[in-house]
Amino acid sequence: MASSKQLLGLIRSHATGDESSFFAIAEHIASDAAKAGRGRMADEIRTLVSNLRTEASERRPSARPTPIFAPRGELASILHASYPETRIDDLILSEALETRLRGVTREHRERELLAERGLEPRRKLLLAGPPGTGKTMTAAALAGELGLPLFTVMLDGVITKFMGETAAKLRLVFDAVETTRGVYFFDEVDALATSRGTENDVGEARRTLNSLLQFLDQDKSASLLIAATNHSALLDAAIFRRFDASLAYERPSSDGIQRILKAHLGRFSMADVDWIAVSSNAAGLSQADLVAAAKDAARVAVLDHNGIIRNEVLGTCIAERAQLHRS
Ligand SMILES: Nc1ncnc2c1ncn2[C@@H]1O[C@H](COP(=O)(O)OP(=O)(O)O)[C@@H](O)[C@H]1O
Ligand SMILES: [Mg+2]
Repeated sequence: MASSKQLLGLIRSHATGDESSFFAIAEHIASDAAKAGRGRMADEIRTLVSNLRTEASERRPSARPTPIFAPRGELASILHASYPETRIDDLILSEALETRLRGVTREHRERELLAERGLEPRRKLLLAGPPGTGKTMTAAALAGELGLPLFTVMLDGVITKFMGETAAKLRLVFDAVETTRGVYFFDEVDALATSRGTENDVGEARRTLNSLLQFLDQDKSASLLIAATNHSALLDAAIFRRFDASLAYERPSSDGIQRILKAHLGRFSMADVDWIAVSSNAAGLSQADLVAAAKDAARVAVLDHNGIIRNEVLGTCIAERAQLHRS
């Protein structure tokens, strides 16, 4: 059963309209129930939460104010601006990771309170982990939560073969970081932050790395800098110190596998599904693979089986996704 702390949290978050805490607590109650062997209860709570979440996200006003800043001139080929509606709730994460992300958004919401005591929110985050585990989505969710524009740094626009030009382009990015508050997302940062260039551009790779380190050091802006890598082993050791936090992304646990599939299949009948078999067959797939498999299964359910997810169909969809990795 839910603990009294959880019940109080539910009541409080409902009363204050804090939808994201409300759902987060409900999910914790479901995980606790699952751990206590009350699988059916856990499933019911999760399905309910998943349906309510979908309804809530459909209610969100989607009209954004007109963009306040669109990169122009040279910046247009270096930064891509967007205004994501994504929320942390849309991500399925380990409890520890979710808590850390919520901690960061809270620090930004309460940055005036922190400033009164000479403190600043953490602004530079390094996200590391395999592809398809939610790093890009996290950058969008942080922007969405804080109502900030998301500026994605386009590596193709930044990295050039001309000596010293990459550093000059990075300077343009960091000028924007300073003048326009936003979430700046450096995806595949290993391409900029490795000192190991190919044989003939070792010198240039070093220069790029050094300028990135310097810009990170000098940055005292109000923007968030989020760097992501699928290969943290390639990163130069000096880069880690420049970040306020490093977050490890992982492929989902068997509980996570079920949560992702259920979140995406919540509107269908899942009574036929053998979750233990499904989660064991899906072991090793990323969150992105699972979302894709869930959509594959949903299409079959709609077209062939009257909205019912058949265990066998879901199994095939998962096996097909796993096959993609082997071929
Ligand atoms: N943790 C997650 N929770 C929910 N969906 C996820 C998660 N990770 C990935 N996805 C799904 O996979 C897609 C690709 O994930 P992405 O954030 O681009 O992964 P990464 O940047 O780590 O390679 C997302 O748009 C989303 O549909
Ligand atoms: Mg990504």
